[in-house]
Amino acid sequence: MANIVIPRGWEMPESEATSEDVYVNRRKFLKAAGAAGAAGMLAGCGSERVFEPFEPEPVATDEDEDKEEEKEEEEEEEEEEEEEEEEEVKPAYPAQTNPKFSELDRNLTNEEIAGGYNNFYEFSRGKTGVLEKADKFVINPWTLEVKGLVSNPLTLDYDALHRRFPLEERLYRLRCVEAWSMAIPWTGFPMSALIEAVEPQSGATHVKFNTFINPDQAPGQFDNPQWPWPYQEGLRMDEAMNELTFVATGIYGHELPKQHGAPVRLVIPWKYGFKSGKSIVSIEFVAEQPATFWNELVPNEYGFLANVEPDVAHPRWSQKTERFITTDASKPLVRPTLLYNGYQEFVQDMYG
Ligand code: MTE
Repeated sequence: MANIVIPRGWEMPESEATSEDVYVNRRKFLKAAGAAGAAGMLAGCGSERVFEPFEPEPVATDEDEDKEEEKEEEEEEEEEEEEEEEEEVKPAYPAQTNPKFSELDRNLTNEEIAGGYNNFYEFSRGKTGVLEKADKFVINPWTLEVKGLVSNPLTLDYDALHRRFPLEERLYRLRCVEAWSMAIPWTGFPMSALIEAVEPQSGATHVKFNTFINPDQAPGQFDNPQWPWPYQEGLRMDEAMNELTFVATGIYGHELPKQHGAPVRLVIPWKYGFKSGKSIVSIEFVAEQPATFWNELVPNEYGFLANVEPDVAHPRWSQKTERFITTDASKPLVRPTLLYNGYQEFVQDMYG
């Protein structure tokens, strides 16, 4: 997936292009041919005088030279424009897979299955309804503001989200608190890159992720106005800086579709999926633990840390096993839940 090279529309096959050598040598040949012609006439003078019909050499006028110069300038400009165009439209996807996260202990979930079984309460309470209900959601233009206790606040528009930071692909396990799981190839950039760019101030202890409010386009917000919208999540600073914490703008080698949280969402693979807010509009550096959507709605069921821990049961069900969804959401494979969703080596130091 990561190594597919998509031929770009404007690229002409090499066979059709004149290489630089051929181009330069042709010009040299034409010049030399003119000089050889003149030398041949002089050589004839020593012996017999042969009167050849006089054919004057075309003499370049100032006007011709000006035209030639103009043409060369135009050609140069065209070349520059082509180069700029190439840079501008260079596709951001698919991105190279980070070798550290290129393999998993299970197959990836089928893309169509993952894209038709979603939790996105702004649109639907049912997982299979999100795809259709999110259809009218406008994701471009979009603005992500990075603000709060930072020295360099940042605003990223739709294009900048996909281009401001180098993108990479990572294969991660996804574990929902509801005890189902998937394996997903995300594309995006590490949260730590964003944090370095904005330079948090020393008072920042937590990061708050706010998603959108738009009941006109999100029927779940319209139907449930009493819920604590916007969907809001948070992390401690050390969790936000952890190398696993990922800002996703793509999935399965292309931009995120709406049901997965376009145009930008978070992915925190060692925590339950509800910590990974979708369609984020602002990231704010703050001085205290922020309130979160599910914790406000059902405080006894959804805590702030929400790390994947098989021995810590949800008040209504066990977390010891999970239903892993691969090619059919109705036929999951039952697997033991892994501590920190299998990412122990990356995160255990943070929790003592
Ligand atoms: N983000 C928002 N804004 N709204 C949501 O309802 N659901 C969360 C999380 N992010 C949710 C959200 C839950 S419970 C899960 S399991 C994941 O998104 C599901 O992500 P996916 O549908 O892309 O698999």
